[in-house]
Amino acid sequence: MRRFLQALLLLCSLGEGHPGPACSLQSWDMDSFSQPGDVLIGGVFVIHSGFVFPRPTFQEMPQPASCKDFQTRYYRDVLGLIFAIDEVNRSPDLLPNITLGFRLFDSCMSELRAIGGALTAMSGKRNPAPGYDCHEHSHVVGIVGDLVSALSLPIARISHGSTLSALSNKINFPSFLRTVPSNMFQNTALTRLVGLFGWTYVGMLVVDNDAGEQGGQVIQAGIEKAGSCVAFLEKIHLSYSMAQIQRVVDIIRKSSVNVIVLHSPEVHVKVLLDSLYDEEVTHKVFISSASFGLTPGVFSRKSWKVLNGTIGLIPSTGAMPGFEEFLGSLHPSRYNKYPLIRALWEKAFSCRWPGGEIQGNKTDPAVFLPLCTGEEDLGGLVPSLFEMKDLSYTYHAYLAVFAYAQALHSLLLCQAPTEKSHYGTCGDARDTQPWQVLNYVKRTPFRPNTGEPIAFNADGDIPAAYEIVNVQILNGSFNLVKVGRFDPEAGDSILLDISSIRWNERFSQVPPSMCSTNCRPGSWKAPRRGQPICCYDCIPCPLGDITNTTDAAECFTCPRDEWPNEEQNMCVPKVIEFLSYQEPLGIFLAITVIIFFLITLAILFIFMKYRGTPIIRATNRELSFILLVSLTLCFLCCLIFIGSPSPMTCPLRQTLFMVVFSISISSVLAKTIMVIVAFKATKMHSPLRKWLGPKIPRTVVALCTTAQVGICGAWLLLSPPFPQVNAEIEKHKLIRECHEGQSLFFYVTLGFMGFLAMVSFFAAFLARNLPGSYNEAKLITFSMLVFCSVWVSFIPAHLSTKGKYTVSVQIFAILASSAGLLACIFLPKCYIVLLRPDRNSRGRITKLVT
Ligand SMILES: *[C@@H]1O[C@H](CO)[C@@H](O)[C@H](O)[C@H]1NC(C)=O
Ligand SMILES: *[C@@H]1O[C@H](CO)[C@@H](O)[C@H](O)[C@H]1NC(C)=O
Ligand SMILES: *[C@@H]1O[C@H](CO)[C@@H](O)[C@H](O)[C@H]1NC(C)=O
Ligand SMILES: *[C@@H]1O[C@H](CO)[C@@H](O)[C@H](O)[C@H]1NC(C)=O
Ligand SMILES: *[C@@H]1O[C@H](CO)[C@@H](O)[C@H](O)[C@H]1NC(C)=O
Repeated sequence: MRRFLQALLLLCSLGEGHPGPACSLQSWDMDSFSQPGDVLIGGVFVIHSGFVFPRPTFQEMPQPASCKDFQTRYYRDVLGLIFAIDEVNRSPDLLPNITLGFRLFDSCMSELRAIGGALTAMSGKRNPAPGYDCHEHSHVVGIVGDLVSALSLPIARISHGSTLSALSNKINFPSFLRTVPSNMFQNTALTRLVGLFGWTYVGMLVVDNDAGEQGGQVIQAGIEKAGSCVAFLEKIHLSYSMAQIQRVVDIIRKSSVNVIVLHSPEVHVKVLLDSLYDEEVTHKVFISSASFGLTPGVFSRKSWKVLNGTIGLIPSTGAMPGFEEFLGSLHPSRYNKYPLIRALWEKAFSCRWPGGEIQGNKTDPAVFLPLCTGEEDLGGLVPSLFEMKDLSYTYHAYLAVFAYAQALHSLLLCQAPTEKSHYGTCGDARDTQPWQVLNYVKRTPFRPNTGEPIAFNADGDIPAAYEIVNVQILNGSFNLVKVGRFDPEAGDSILLDISSIRWNERFSQVPPSMCSTNCRPGSWKAPRRGQPICCYDCIPCPLGDITNTTDAAECFTCPRDEWPNEEQNMCVPKVIEFLSYQEPLGIFLAITVIIFFLITLAILFIFMKYRGTPIIRATNRELSFILLVSLTLCFLCCLIFIGSPSPMTCPLRQTLFMVVFSISISSVLAKTIMVIVAFKATKMHSPLRKWLGPKIPRTVVALCTTAQVGICGAWLLLSPPFPQVNAEIEKHKLIRECHEGQSLFFYVTLGFMGFLAMVSFFAAFLARNLPGSYNEAKLITFSMLVFCSVWVSFIPAHLSTKGKYTVSVQIFAILASSAGLLACIFLPKCYIVLLRPDRNSRGRITKLVT
């Protein structure tokens, strides 16, 4: 369409200076309405919301579209302009002695008609010729219009309804000014609203033209910048076929979004809304931009239901005192002054004028309507008929007239528009040029009858705010309820009373509109392949990781000494674990240890008490006492293993035990050696006899113990065991344990004991059948067998258990091997001493021994 205009201008500039054939392009019969005056204000308005475009055959000149669907609400804008002109004319202060007139065109939502109207207005002839002013007596100094940005793009003067922000661009639209806020702010407001309600997944419907394209892109970018996603962006237009509309309806119906941003003049969406109703898609919440006029008269009742709950932006308005009375006083008898007043009457009272032309053809149902009489009274109908609750656009048309009037006033009185600017040229009421007026309009602050002075900024916009309204269809009436306000001047924030919003029948609360539900803490959002970023799956964090916010993008690992709680939304300190006296296993082991300790003490006591009896004398008493005492200590050693590892206990644990236990084993070894020596000595009268004294056992015990002490000493000196906290063994626990330092030492000490035990075992095995003495060899063999099997199985158990169980295993090993020694070597003797004293006689023993 703009290309068409450019072509038109090009054509005319070629023919400049030759009025005539080049300029009489078409003889369009534009419906124009005018009122004479010294100075005229042109207007291009939407009054009918539709047009019928005759299919061009190109065999004759194409006819312009003809209008249909008279809209009272839009007609109100025209009346607002006329009302303002009347006020200016009546005002003694503004343009005294000069009468303003107007010349208006109905663009019927047709861009073609909008251009034609503007051209006709400026050139003054029926044949629009740009650049030629053929008005005979008065000049059109400027144009007010159009309501819709798409229609203003081709004409560009002061607009009362075009909000497209591109029109602020003064290079492309040097002479465009507007009295409604630019889209720029409403785009911000729309994105804010979407963010405010937490919608992350919304649909968008925009009108299929430049205005929709540009606005849609800006809004989409804003929504996406705020982290939300646009599920679909569909275009819609009045001229779409049913199939195209059906496609959009299907997309809306199938989509999971509950919220749709609507950026389109209402007329383009009418059919779509009806189709949505027919398909029972009535629960989507629309967020409408200011270009979507919430004018109930335009929509059907079906659409009302679909629009129920809509949140809309409307440019905020001021008061128009006297306007309602003005509307009430309209009468068809003054149809010369008020264009289309008869059409209003037909619409308001469902009647037709006798002899009046009927829109449509002769079979139109309008033929059967009663005749209008002119007696009907408009007064009571005004508030509902003209939708007086929302004066937007009418008020802005009203402002536009004042802007022109004030500029003209200054121009004609030769007043400088502002202190800094030049006087420019002074005007003559009879010969005012639009460019002179434009110069003044841009710079002159104007003041409607009420309120503060208003001035255009450098972009030709006026400071303005938006009201946020909520559509509530209650009791069959269409209510626009103000729920908030967006004032870019006052801090860019939205004031909103969410509690007064009524959504629709499905949603009593703010409707959710997201692709995926929020991920709770403890999970992270994994984007879905090939879908917008707002669509994701919530995946629980892996073991050991947490998220403590909703919708976290990734999990993070807890610090080393912390571990996630059950919900994985917090790191909590890890449980510290060691074998303690407080827990059942610790208590059980401690009690067992004490019991064995007491048993050993008891046996020691018995041996002390009965040390004179033959059976105890027959054994090597000294070695038995050493063995018993060392076993007692062995049991006590176990107690160091229980309890929290400390720098004190860790070095002692293994070494003390190893030393004490090697005393035991070496005593056993000494015992075995003594058995052999005793046998050899008695049998063969050999020089071995002299070894029968306590020398050998003492030496053996001392040597072995010293060796073990040596190894342990080296261990303690070179790499002593130390307590440590081990976080690696179990992920959610801190294990407090003794690190063995150089573990080689541990195995060397263990190996040394093993070596002693093996030697004892083989010696005892060899001596097992030796007669001649009270033979302990069998018992020793058996006890060493027990000892070896315990410690051989200990090593794999030691290596394969963790934490406190390693310690328990070692305690078990100590207990088992010590108890084995105790049981094998001492219990039989105790049995004889205590229960069979008859066998505890010298004769018996000698007999036994020999
Ligand atoms: C208006 O016209 C009257 C009479 O023609 C004249 O006396 C008066 O000065 C004019 N006022 C202005 C402001 O031009
Ligand atoms: C007249 O209009 C009606 C609908 O308003 C339409 O159905 C009919 O086809 C039209 N007839 C002619 C002759 O245009
Ligand atoms: C709706 O209308 C009914 C009667 O038509 C009336 O009783 C009721 O109070 C109205 N409710 C509201 C909320 O206006
Ligand atoms: C509009 O929504 C309100 C709830 O917010 C509900 O009470 C009312 O019935 C709805 N109107 C229609 C026509 O569905
Ligand atoms: C989440 O955890 C991080 C790191 O532990 C911490 O800095 C942050 O304050 C936590 N946030 C909340 C909301 O708990």
